[in-house]
Amino acid sequence: MSKPLNIGMIGYGFMGRTHSNAYRKVNQFFDLEYHPVLKACCARKEEKIKPFAENWGYESFETDWRKLVERDDIDLIDIGSPNNTHKEIAIAAAEAGKMVLCEKPLAMTVEEGEEMCEAIEKAGVANMVWFNYRRVPAITLAKQVVDEGRVGKPFHYRATYLQDWTIASDVPQGGAALWRLDASVAGSGVTGDLLAHSIDTAEWLNGPIARVVAKTETFVKERLHAETNAMQPVTIDDACMFLAIFENGSMGTFESTRYARGRKNYNTFELNGEQGSVFFDLEDPQYLSYFKYADPKTGEKVEDHLTGWQKIHVTNFEHPYMDHWWVPGCTIGYEHTFINALADFLKGIETGEPTQPDFRSGLRTQKVCDAVLESARTGQWVDIN
Ligand SMILES: NC(=O)c1ccc[n+]([C@@H]2O[C@H](COP(=O)([O-])OP(=O)(O)OC[C@H]3O[C@@H](n4cnc5c(N)ncnc54)[C@H](O)[C@@H]3O)[C@@H](O)[C@H]2O)c1
Repeated sequence: MSKPLNIGMIGYGFMGRTHSNAYRKVNQFFDLEYHPVLKACCARKEEKIKPFAENWGYESFETDWRKLVERDDIDLIDIGSPNNTHKEIAIAAAEAGKMVLCEKPLAMTVEEGEEMCEAIEKAGVANMVWFNYRRVPAITLAKQVVDEGRVGKPFHYRATYLQDWTIASDVPQGGAALWRLDASVAGSGVTGDLLAHSIDTAEWLNGPIARVVAKTETFVKERLHAETNAMQPVTIDDACMFLAIFENGSMGTFESTRYARGRKNYNTFELNGEQGSVFFDLEDPQYLSYFKYADPKTGEKVEDHLTGWQKIHVTNFEHPYMDHWWVPGCTIGYEHTFINALADFLKGIETGEPTQPDFRSGLRTQKVCDAVLESARTGQWVDIN
């Protein structure tokens, strides 16, 4: 008999939908002790949250997250609201003894993130940050390839995260989805929104970043604010480039912008090592590219006249997560990364083994983001610790 886990979902936007979809599907595809129950969802406006609750099958809704957190019939609070709400909700939820799932970036600043980690660890509640890209099977396979020594001594890590949706100067700041352009709600621009993903993936694959030097740019200096209806200065970073030195001695370049015409969600990385390389592109997400130079066990060179990049279609049963989905050759998509992440979290509470990335790991990414922004302000290299 599986155990119910009563979910309290905050936010009905982009992430409210991906998470709700995951709660509904996870037990159909993964054999788990717990099954999520869509107990309640929450947002400030009843006219918005009521139809969302009906559409996804939530039993009830709230218009104040505090009420949701206080409810005895909720086991887990899922924070899918903008970044400036994460800290207060996470701390209140932990103090109420609820499990907490939180969207990325964990917080607006390192200081906020520290407080959140302390509250979560004091309460001893299960927690996870939704860095869902770790659960793209091709990225999980890249981690396996690196851990098997197939890349070998790393030299270069190269990440890009490019979009183009804010080029027009009449895109307003503030309000639904556009809160991302308002620093008082988002904390930062592409650094916290996009590079946080790149940093989480990079540190997962290639270990901790030791130091960074960065340059940011804000191309459109003023935008109409959708909530105040006034022209206001734009204080987020529209674009950010940074150089990184990893603790293992390898060098990294990271580039992110919302001004790369034609790029919609171009999230790529490449890691080059002595024995091989891996490359991934989220716009072609079922593939991992791998270049094999040497045998990982013997170190013996295998390169010959037929050597080249292998483009691996990551859909076989032996590939990460894929034995839960369709048959080899059939792909899965963006929404499945959230289902895979949720399955890992539910398995974690079943076994007592904490699921990664937890809040501490999310704080680590926050530290790199804050260091990047500090470096962009001062023009100096910044050490992470
Ligand atoms: N993991 C990912 O790939 C990914 C992708 C997009 C967004 N995110 C993160 O998810 C979070 C939400 O982003 P989104 O794109 O879903 O935003 P969104 O604008 O689509 O939705 C935000 C939701 O939060 C609700 N909300 C705002 N303030 C609230 C409050 N005080 N109380 C209750 N509800 C409130 C809004 O009504 C809305 O339903 C952000 O932290 C964002 O960085 C993560």
